[in-house]
Amino acid sequence: MRKFSRVQVLVLVGLTTIALIGCAEQETDLTEHPGLQTYTKYCASCHNAGIADAPKLGDRDKWQWRVSKGPDALLQTTIDGIPPGMPKKGMCMSCSDEQLVDAIDYMLAAVGAGAS
Ligand code: HEC
Repeated sequence: MRKFSRVQVLVLVGLTTIALIGCAEQETDLTEHPGLQTYTKYCASCHNAGIADAPKLGDRDKWQWRVSKGPDALLQTTIDGIPPGMPKKGMCMSCSDEQLVDAIDYMLAAVGAGAS
């Protein structure tokens, strides 16, 4: 079996490093996000699939103009709901404002616009 030459090994190591750095820059790790639990329990049913035209998780095009309203306005519309599709408090009546803020931020983070 032919062994890799030194140059080939160096090139491979170099490419792997570039690939790893590239991934780290692009993907945000959301598994530790404080809003993940609330999102999964209450919001995912509509926002994962885009039910009733809910802005889908991770869909930058659908989120862009909403993101530009700013997080305070998004919290307010979440609390009030947007008839007919978006229910008051996203159907989480027991959620505190803070839990809603976290859940919203989780969705914003999924399109690269989150605060945490
Ligand atoms: C029953 C389905 C449903 C559930 C459950 C739901 N949403 Fe929504 N959501 C929608 C729909 C539909 C829209 C789009 C409303 C519109 O613009 O007409 C929306 C829009 C939003 C928006 C954008 C508001 C804006 O001002 O543009 C935010 C933020 C949001 N939802 C947060 C949440 C959060 C947080 C939860 C969970 C706590 C949640 N939603 C649960 C259906 C849902």
